[in-house]
Amino acid sequence: MIEATPSQRTTGIPENKMPNPDLRAWIAKVDAAGQLQRVSGAEPEEEIGGLVDVFQRQIGNKAVLFDDIPGFPSGYRVLANILTSIPRINLTIGMPAGSKAIDLVQFWRRYMREMKSIPPRIVANGLVQENVKGGNELDLLQIPTPKWHEQDGGHFIGTGCMVVMKDPDSEWVNYGAYRVQVHGRNVATVHCTKGKHGNIIMRRYHERGEPCPIAVVVGMHPALFMVSGLEVPYGKNEYDVAGGLLGEAVEVITGPRTGLPIPAGAEIAFEGFVHPNDLMEEGPFGEWCGYYVAGKKQETVIRVETLMHRNDPILLGAVPGVPPDDDSFYRGTYRSGAVWNQLEAAGIPEVNGVWAHPAGGSRLWLTVSIKQQYGGHAKQAGLVASQCHAGAYANRFVVVVDDDIDPADMDKVIWAMCTRCDPREGLEILRGCWTGTSDPMNYGPNDTRNARVIIDACKPWSRRDSFPAKVGSSKELDKRIHDKWAHILPSGVQ
Ligand SMILES: Cc1cc2nc3c(=O)[nH]c(=O)nc-3n(C[C@H](O)[C@H](O)[C@H](O)COP(=O)(O)O)c2cc1C
Repeated sequence: MIEATPSQRTTGIPENKMPNPDLRAWIAKVDAAGQLQRVSGAEPEEEIGGLVDVFQRQIGNKAVLFDDIPGFPSGYRVLANILTSIPRINLTIGMPAGSKAIDLVQFWRRYMREMKSIPPRIVANGLVQENVKGGNELDLLQIPTPKWHEQDGGHFIGTGCMVVMKDPDSEWVNYGAYRVQVHGRNVATVHCTKGKHGNIIMRRYHERGEPCPIAVVVGMHPALFMVSGLEVPYGKNEYDVAGGLLGEAVEVITGPRTGLPIPAGAEIAFEGFVHPNDLMEEGPFGEWCGYYVAGKKQETVIRVETLMHRNDPILLGAVPGVPPDDDSFYRGTYRSGAVWNQLEAAGIPEVNGVWAHPAGGSRLWLTVSIKQQYGGHAKQAGLVASQCHAGAYANRFVVVVDDDIDPADMDKVIWAMCTRCDPREGLEILRGCWTGTSDPMNYGPNDTRNARVIIDACKPWSRRDSFPAKVGSSKELDKRIHDKWAHILPSGVQ
């Protein structure tokens, strides 16, 4: 069991100041909790990816740490399957052991609402500088980057990553998880979808004909990685909200060539510049929807000028695929909380719950449960969920159910869809919405929009009082049965 301290139970923030203890501290905790599988000798072309694929197929499987990778010095390691279990997510963000998915949804709601900011603290030196390489010494190929999926077009060093850029016109430093393929000793590409903050910042440099400074961090405490994948509002500094998540300032060094902040305790980081119109063929890569959609395409090139790493560095992998994977699993509870907050912020009353199902990569399927207040309430909730910032990108289905349906219980959601939805009135198809190249149902290679459907699976408002009564025991009978017959009832049945 992973133990929580009393302060964790009340604040959700760990007592032992988690962030600047680094990835190694996280590994030690996960190991102590019996949640780490060590693997020695797996080769990086097929076996590491093949093993990760097996471990990812089932929620709750251990995190996997690969060492003694053939062709690389012993001690140069790869860690994957990090956040595909609720206990490991609890441990990562300091939630009490035993917290459930719904507790995490509530945690993310609080976190996104408060958006507590603790700015990073610049320090002169960090462990990431144990090895600093530039010029002829610089070689990204020294890092044991696996070919994660059999049909990948190359080696993706940036999956569980932070890609850092600074707005040229303000103090806004953004970081996000955007995949990075390594192409040679000092060449990589970064795939940053249009509309993502990193893409907006990069375009600002390029529009004035300037190269965009960029830093890529590919081994750090998983909490810092988690923030990479969150829809932190436009203009807000991700390092600040990472500090807020962790309860203390993230210590950063400044990149020697770019001046960009890099976590001082990072395992591996590199920095350089993305020049205007500097493109190179990238991919294919197994993507979060579970397909190779984008194929090979032209992508922005990073000309790397500095590589830094700790002695015996550890590459962090968050490998996308057919869900569940890191991406879809940890972001399911986050997105549920974020969409719930944004529905309320848009003035939707009586939202009872939101569930972003991991099978939809946490994006494609959203269920919203409401206590209907007026005619059109359900449609309003569905339309807003499908277009608010946390729900808009790459959504396909929004299902709105009544408050007697647990949105995370798919059997009940499907039952509501089957018995309360009138397809003549209850379906709304939206066209031309925001999606990306990885959505297999986008409009096409040059048009990354999609269509989506809002399904009103609530009892029709006009028939709410005459709708057939639901079969099942009343609350009173159910309580009496539970009290009297607890000794013979199957465990876990509420
Ligand atoms: C493991 C992982 C990989 C991701 N890969 C990409 C990617 O290659 N390109 C992209 O645009 N977004 C990718 N995302 C999604 C973005 O990180 C996410 O939308 C984030 O909110 C973007 O940050 P931003 O809002 O600051 O742009 C990935 C997310 C995760 C968790």
